[in-house]
Amino acid sequence: MEVFRLTGPTQLRGTVDVRGAKNSVLKLMAASLLAVGKTTITNVPAILDVRIMVELLSRLGCTVDYDAEAGIVSIDVPAEVGIQADYELVRAMRASISVLGPLTARMHSAHVALPGGDAIGSRGLDMHQAGLEALGAHVRLEHGYFVAEAPGGLTGTDIALDFPSVGATENLVMAATLASGVTTIANAAKEPEIVDICLMLVEMGARIEGIGTADLTIIGVDALHPVEHRTVGDRIVAGTYAFAAALSGGDVTVRGVGLDIMPNVAIKLRDTGATVDDLGDITLGDGTQGRGFRVIGPERPHAIRVATMPFPGFPTDLQPFVIALNSVSDGVGLLSENLFEARWRFVQEVARLGAKVRVDGNHALITGVDELSGAEVEASDIRAGAGLVLAGLRAAGITEVSGVDHIDRGYEGFVQKLQALGADIVRVSRADRLSFD
Ligand code: EPU
Repeated sequence: MEVFRLTGPTQLRGTVDVRGAKNSVLKLMAASLLAVGKTTITNVPAILDVRIMVELLSRLGCTVDYDAEAGIVSIDVPAEVGIQADYELVRAMRASISVLGPLTARMHSAHVALPGGDAIGSRGLDMHQAGLEALGAHVRLEHGYFVAEAPGGLTGTDIALDFPSVGATENLVMAATLASGVTTIANAAKEPEIVDICLMLVEMGARIEGIGTADLTIIGVDALHPVEHRTVGDRIVAGTYAFAAALSGGDVTVRGVGLDIMPNVAIKLRDTGATVDDLGDITLGDGTQGRGFRVIGPERPHAIRVATMPFPGFPTDLQPFVIALNSVSDGVGLLSENLFEARWRFVQEVARLGAKVRVDGNHALITGVDELSGAEVEASDIRAGAGLVLAGLRAAGITEVSGVDHIDRGYEGFVQKLQALGADIVRVSRADRLSFD
């Protein structure tokens, strides 16, 4: 078993490069299924989830070439692609369900395993289903698979989402690009990753109006063509390093993501007493041009009050970092979780480091303490794992985070990047744990 072992307390100082967003690139890869031929995606992070998507697309019959170091994935899509996403892969990565829309649109049939339980809530698929049915597909559940069939193809329609779901918006936009006629989606999600996917679809020949708003109009076309597209920067990874700087009293420059796609995050970071400077257009680590910002943390952060909301609100994926920061703040902070009902496993673990957190319904009240103390803790999901590492930066002594495969799913070179910022952290194997297997 591998763990991240860090010794604190420590301050982070230096520059970190952040590549493309996990939650965009996985969907861009799925969108490639909509066009026959070779689509190339750049600025791809070297993370486990990309490897899982490479495997999924390969099993569907695509020829996929992935250069992790260069950050390039090219996907050669044949005229006939497979229609089944296996349970083994969907279970490993829920984002596999993003092939549902493209497969139903292009092949008129998709069999995608239901993801099942998830460590951060029930995460239903009802809006994906209702939207595809509105577009004319017959949808049923069969042997654990979500089966969508539209023998005559999909037909444009008016859809209103109950909630601006990221996954449902993406699946329905992708499906509607090849539907006959016009589709409107009201109450659509507006996340920068959705904008990125819509922009790639437009480059591929799709007709989409209202990009970046809650009202999307998609005018169906007969076919799309392959393109080369650069993935938008990962605002959640960027936010992770920004919070790490703020809670450790450090000074970190983040290259590859602009504050323009993190409006609420910048406000909350400033509320902690941190200085947040927009560096505008800068030269990135790979020599290309991009955006960047710098965060200088206060000696001790002020407690902050945060409510997670769909974009442009404060992202749910940054909530463990808010809890970690509040736990060493000079007061009492509040975190209200409005997207996922069961994102609290992190709280039980951070309490092992001495954090004082009280959960009541969807609210967590966090009372700051002078110092946390290192302990063994376990990651239950990607962000919880990164959050435990951040808390460990402010914990005296050794913190060991297990479940690091979760962190690998979304953070490229996390240990190396933190080391470069001055953290005393290593990835080590531990064979001395009890095993009852
Ligand atoms: N929901 C439904 N029915 C649906 C769809 C969603 O009830 O048909 C509910 C979910 O149960 C959840 C809420 O709506 O309570 C939000 O779900 P949404 O569909 O917006 O999220 P998602 O597409 O499942 C993506 C990201 C998450 C991120 C959320 C919210 C990917 C692969 N995942 O999930 O990222 O937290 O949007 O921004 O894009 C992560 O990266 O660690 C992560 C969990």
